[in-house]
Amino acid sequence: MFFSSQLVEALKADHKKLRAELNLLKETDISQLDRQLCFGRLLPLLISHTQREEKVVYSFMKSQDDENLNFMAYEGQTKHAMVDQLIEDMLSENLTNQEWSASAKVLADSVGQHLDEEENEVFPYLKRHLDSDKDAELCLRYESHYQDSDAIGYDEEYLSETPRWS
Ligand SMILES: [Fe+2]
Ligand SMILES: [Fe+2]
Repeated sequence: MFFSSQLVEALKADHKKLRAELNLLKETDISQLDRQLCFGRLLPLLISHTQREEKVVYSFMKSQDDENLNFMAYEGQTKHAMVDQLIEDMLSENLTNQEWSASAKVLADSVGQHLDEEENEVFPYLKRHLDSDKDAELCLRYESHYQDSDAIGYDEEYLSETPRWS
């Protein structure tokens, strides 16, 4: 019987919000300032998503007796770390506008590919390890971590500043 996972639906809903900003971020027809504003909107969404995914979803995947699933969790975690490093570079004051735009495109492409991989390969495989009780529990934990991530205050930290890289 087809199993519809609340957790996977919640993850995909967040991916959809991320994709909207990622598409704008690499759009060369809009101004650099608009892309920088888009980057400011993307950051809190992206950081909140990757942190909650690691704390709830990847942790569960690592706890299962399935090497493939364990590997997918470590692979996802490594991709998140690479993206974090790229973001750190983009927040530095040392990039020229052209360098910043190139980094923005690489960021959008890398995150986009990661989201596709999760949706096409990881989540369908993860669903095999979920029953409806486990699914509901993980979904609740994933959604409730929203509060924790918001409390970190990425919005204020990144959005209230005038762009440092312009
Ligand atoms: Fe991820
Ligand atoms: Fe994800």
